[in-house]
Order: sequence, then C-alpha cells, then structure tokens
Amino acid sequence: MSSDRLVLVVLGRQGSGKGTQSALLVDKYGCVHVSTGDMLRAAVEAGSELGRQAEAIMAAGDLVPDGVMCGIVEQRLAEADIRENGVLLDGFPRTPTQADALLEMLGAEGVDLAVNIDVPVAEVTQRMVDRGREDDTLDAISRRLELYEAQTAPLLAWFEDHGLLHTVDGMGTREDVFERVVTVIDSVA
Ligand code: AP5
Ligand code: MG
Repeated sequence: MSSDRLVLVVLGRQGSGKGTQSALLVDKYGCVHVSTGDMLRAAVEAGSELGRQAEAIMAAGDLVPDGVMCGIVEQRLAEADIRENGVLLDGFPRTPTQADALLEMLGAEGVDLAVNIDVPVAEVTQRMVDRGREDDTLDAISRRLELYEAQTAPLLAWFEDHGLLHTVDGMGTREDVFERVVTVIDSVA
C-alpha cells in the first residue's frame, strides 16, 4: 500500500488498551479499524458458522485456529475501503504463523509500523476484571495472558527485526497514551 495510506499493527497484552487506542487512531488517521476480536464477537452475535466455531474457544480464552483467522483477515484486507484508506490491525497477528501470513499478504514493506502498548500483567488483569466482558473471567484472563507470553510476545522480536517495532508506555490516562502513540506514528509515517 502506498505511503499516504497508513498500515499499522497495534500490539500489546490483552486489556492493554488496543481497542481503546485504535478507536481514537482511526478517527485521527482515517484508516480502517480491523479488530479480529470484534469480528469474531459479531460472528457469535449473528450466529454464523464462524461464530458457532469460535464461541467456546473465546469463552475459554483459547485462540481460534490460525487457518481460520488468516482466511478472514486476507479477505478483509482485499476490500476496497482498506485499499483506499489503509488499515489498523488490532489483535492480528498474534502467532508466528499469522505473522508469516501477514508478510505474505502485504510484504514487510507493506507495514508502516507496529506499536506495542506496554502495560504490566497486574494492571491489564485489573482493567479486564473491571470491564467484565464475557471472556473476562479470571480463568479465561489467565489463559489469554499465558497464550500471549507463549505465542504473541515472540512476535515483538519479529517486528523489531524488520525495523518496525515501537513500544510505548501504556500506563496513565487514555489521553496520555494516545499522545504517546501519535508522537510515534507521526515520527515514522
Ligand atoms: P480480542 O478481542 O482481541 O481480546 P484480547 O486480545 O483479549 O484483548 P482485549 O480486547 O481484551 O484488550 P484491548 O487491548 O483491546 O484492551 P481494551 O481497549 O479493551 O480477542 C478475543 C478473543 O478472540 C481471543 O481470546 C481469541 O479467542 C479470539 N481471537 C481474536 N483475535 C485472534 C487471532 N488473531 N487469532 C486467534 N484468536 C483470536 O481495554 C481494556 C479495558 O481497559 C477497557 O475496559 C478500557 O476501557 C480500559 N482502558 C483502556 N485504556 C485504559 C487506560 N489508559 N487506563 C485505564 N483503563 C483503560
Ligand atoms: Mg480489544
């Protein structure tokens, strides 16, 4: 995608504020917010085949299979709004297989930057407990954080190796964090 259309990956632990910051960022930069978690929750709500497949997996805090996720994202990235306006990926990639697939879809040069919102485990746990989404039970939270360490944290090195990783402190108010993320994006894109 060309340089005036931002292609941004937002990384961070569950509950670190990816969704919160993404909503503010798409307003500012005009790119399309693609949250795989939101897409899956919409599928569950709609009672589609995908939703039926994903519901129990999500409730347990496990990961939906890579093949399913990569197919959904590839299809979404091919749509006209994203080709015109760029994209903010929230919640994808979160396994090495998904990162490889993204590279296939866009090429390393196809991603402008990855922003990692860094918030410690104790704080994200509290934020999720306070939020109370269906999968914010203590068991599912601890499973999700375990999978983050095993599957998603290694991707930070992958993005770093491609010169794309920018880590921002995710503590403080939503506005504080937003200001930090915007500073990083404006210094790169
Ligand atoms: P997903 O929806 O992506 O959930 P998650 O990864 O667990 O992340 P969250 O959405 O919980 O956290 P967030 O970082 O967006 O934080 P938020 O802004 O909400 O995925 C759900 C499930 O779908 C997965 O478990 C998996 O099963 C499946 N799935 C999704 N993508 C997948 C993939 N690629 N592969 C396989 N499976 C996949 O903030 C959290 C709370 O904190 C909110 O209440 C917010 O208001 C509050 N908050 C935000 N910022 C601040 C702040 N600065 N100070 C205080 N509170 C704050
Ligand atoms: Mg989210």
